[in-house]
Amino acid sequence: MSFTSMAESTRKASLQWRIPPPITALLLLLPIVSGSFFKPFNVSYDHRALIVAGKRRMLVSAGVHYPRATPQMWPDLIAKSKEGGADVVQTYVFWSGHEPVKGQYNFEGRYDLVKFVKLVGSSGLYLHLRIGPYVCAEWNFGGFPVWLRDVPGIEFRTDNEPFKKEMQKFVRKIVDLMREAELFCWQGGPVIMLQIENEYGDVEKSYGQKGKDYVKWAASMALGLGAGVPWVMCKQTDAPENILDACNGYYCDGFKPNSKTKPVLWTEDWDGWYTKWGGSLPHRPAEDLAFAVARFYQRGGSFQNYYMYFGGTNFGRTSGGPFYITSYDYDAPLDEYGLRSEPKWGHLKDLHAAIKLSEPALVAADAPQYKKLGSNQEAHVYHGDGETGGKVCAAFLANIDEHKTAYVKFNGQSYTLPPWSVSILPGCRHVAYDTAKVGAQTSVKTVESAGPPLGSLSILQKVARQDNASYISKSWMALKEPIGIWGENNFTTQGLLEHLNVTKDQSDYLWHKTRISVTEDDISFWKKNGANPTLSVDSMRDVLRVFVNKQLSGSIVGHWVKAVQPVLFVQGNNDLLLLTQTVGLQNYGAFLEKDGAGFRGKAKLTGFKNGDVDLSKSSWTYQVGLKGEAEKVYSVEHNEKAEWSTLETEASPSIFMWYKTCFNTPDGTDPVVLDLGSMGKGQAWVNGHHIGRYWSIIAQKDGCDKTCDYRGAYHSDKCTTNCGKPTQTRYHVPRSWLKPDSNLLVLFEETGGNPFKISVKTVTAGILCGQVSESHYPPLRKWSTPGFMNGTMSINSVAPEMHLHCEEGHVISSIEFASYGTPRGSCDKFSTGKCHASKSLSIVSEACKGRNSCFIEVSNAAFQSDPCKGTLKTLVVMARCSPSQDTSETASD
Ligand code: GAL
Repeated sequence: MSFTSMAESTRKASLQWRIPPPITALLLLLPIVSGSFFKPFNVSYDHRALIVAGKRRMLVSAGVHYPRATPQMWPDLIAKSKEGGADVVQTYVFWSGHEPVKGQYNFEGRYDLVKFVKLVGSSGLYLHLRIGPYVCAEWNFGGFPVWLRDVPGIEFRTDNEPFKKEMQKFVRKIVDLMREAELFCWQGGPVIMLQIENEYGDVEKSYGQKGKDYVKWAASMALGLGAGVPWVMCKQTDAPENILDACNGYYCDGFKPNSKTKPVLWTEDWDGWYTKWGGSLPHRPAEDLAFAVARFYQRGGSFQNYYMYFGGTNFGRTSGGPFYITSYDYDAPLDEYGLRSEPKWGHLKDLHAAIKLSEPALVAADAPQYKKLGSNQEAHVYHGDGETGGKVCAAFLANIDEHKTAYVKFNGQSYTLPPWSVSILPGCRHVAYDTAKVGAQTSVKTVESAGPPLGSLSILQKVARQDNASYISKSWMALKEPIGIWGENNFTTQGLLEHLNVTKDQSDYLWHKTRISVTEDDISFWKKNGANPTLSVDSMRDVLRVFVNKQLSGSIVGHWVKAVQPVLFVQGNNDLLLLTQTVGLQNYGAFLEKDGAGFRGKAKLTGFKNGDVDLSKSSWTYQVGLKGEAEKVYSVEHNEKAEWSTLETEASPSIFMWYKTCFNTPDGTDPVVLDLGSMGKGQAWVNGHHIGRYWSIIAQKDGCDKTCDYRGAYHSDKCTTNCGKPTQTRYHVPRSWLKPDSNLLVLFEETGGNPFKISVKTVTAGILCGQVSESHYPPLRKWSTPGFMNGTMSINSVAPEMHLHCEEGHVISSIEFASYGTPRGSCDKFSTGKCHASKSLSIVSEACKGRNSCFIEVSNAAFQSDPCKGTLKTLVVMARCSPSQDTSETASD
């Protein structure tokens, strides 16, 4: 199947931008003209690969969701994706952000999709645009705008006219937007592939025949839009012939597309996982991730996307549910703030380099040649005629044994294969890369309180900083949020209404109020029985707070759980107030439009003398949201109109409070976070930007393994951290939302917290550790040396190397430890072993100190001696990175 260019594609001569690193700064300066990032080209495919501009390609893709970062962060994220070896950037399109109100579109700020796509194009990368428009993605309501529920007669994701009409309208809008901005590849733009729907195969059965019809309709609707590039349906075994189907998962090397004419694509390689409030933090080891990716290309894969390469932040109320946290870090190669997560980022960069070196052979062969090397060991060999003449060959040697190292023979040579590993041999002889051997540095993120760098402070100043100076402010204002119905815009009706039908998701909060009259008889009945009446609700999500006469009786948290809450009434009339809250709408599953929020089933009061009170039939007064929300007390324009009062330092924590203060932005360029660990649950705004929900809920105590073994199949409960600690305490405040000083911070606190203990901090990759042994393979970058690939130069002549690099704007300010020999320990604490080259520290310092990055050869020659003949030596280094401007100070420490 081939997508030929449209008649319109007779385009002006293209301008090819070749941008050398560092790209970030340049990208910001470059004028972004429409289209013409590439010479117009077509994309088609065969059974082996996507065919880009007439050539089969092995592609590596980086998942980056534009609204999970700010436009100011985009250039750096794209540049780091490219530097890490990606060819493609992949994103979903977020319908709820683009059409927040039916018929009213938003393509501004974080939703400026055209700008994002142009930045990708201008960096020379391609784009895979997954329009959905159902996207799942741990995004509120799976990306559907909540107004979609209210379209008469609608049923989502099935053969339903009202749904299909809205879906088609939005998908067409996005395709037209791309075409008008000349962003398809046949127009010289970066868009090479699209996606319609998302993992519909998971829910299709629930819709019976209508589901099958919907798949066919979605496919032909998409193809009918004339986008001129291939469309994907992921996890869709019945994807029609002219639509690609693709795999999502932790491993996809066994995946077979549903037709022999389609290539093997992996649209979501889950390189980490998302987190729930009250959950621990998942980590997928770099060795296992690299193993999964190498196995994929080994066994015939041709396109692989990291879900996520950068996860970012669920700003505002965009996080999905049930209960997904504000951070969408995902343990991705770039962390929530866009800093490299090492060794993952670096280990994958090396992997991508090895795959690139193998690409000529991988695309030359129609299929690999299979060789069994042992019971759990196998080789796949790709050979054929190279593009520029001559034979090309690449081989992958896998040991899928989880425990044992294997010693195998391949093409007459011996190879040692660590457990759960793939070795990549770009010329079929020398190992360029081994998934189980990490040569990349480890970085340890350090979090510093705002103020001058600690290095420049005296010890006394440092202590003082730790004591109190790190808190964001000593002066706070407070404003009480009324409990219950607070304004005119309420209404009264019989019965309990469904939460979303009332709020339309304009707020997390919905107040319900009813009156309960209690007789003297009731009171004496309760006294006599020693029991109180109880509120009982069949089923509720996500949070319910129960108040009687404005006093909190209790709160219930859960996902469609029964709520049982004892209540205390007085004689006479009592106000029973129920506050239902959402913490991210459902984003996965069939029949989302029916899922709703708040209550399901019956609600009653039990324990009354005359029998239960059926609350489902009572008269209820409803009010959507909070008074402070309606008055926008969090905004720069409106906050001063409210009646704030000074908060006393000794004030005890109280529920339902608004707090505000002003703070200065920390110096430098490091990402800024607010530490809200002293607060309970609520939402926060900085200069009117909603930074998200916060919640200091503690993760379960158990389940975090002490050690993390990369060997064996990964699942999201393996290798988790942070048990017994709050799931999230740090909340990203993008620098572009900050002014140098007097930034307005407003919080709405539901359960009680201490704002005086809130601090503003910066995050950086402050500590680097490297560990590379003499037996490590030579640096991947050396393979570009002519002669290395074709074997005229000996691999043995190239020593392994340690590469250390700080984030941009930082330099290696000190080498805390260095030993070439047999050092012991790990990044937490290294120590010298029996064998140690005495000049280790001075040689490493000389090579690295004051530099942003450095390379150190791991050899006797580099360390001017052999500290222990006949023993395998390892170089271990621990270094500190500091902002470049203050190296002079720290260097003299
Ligand atoms: C997939 C889905 C993605 C995301 C992922 C988990 O099933 O397609 O959108 O939700 O799971 O992070």
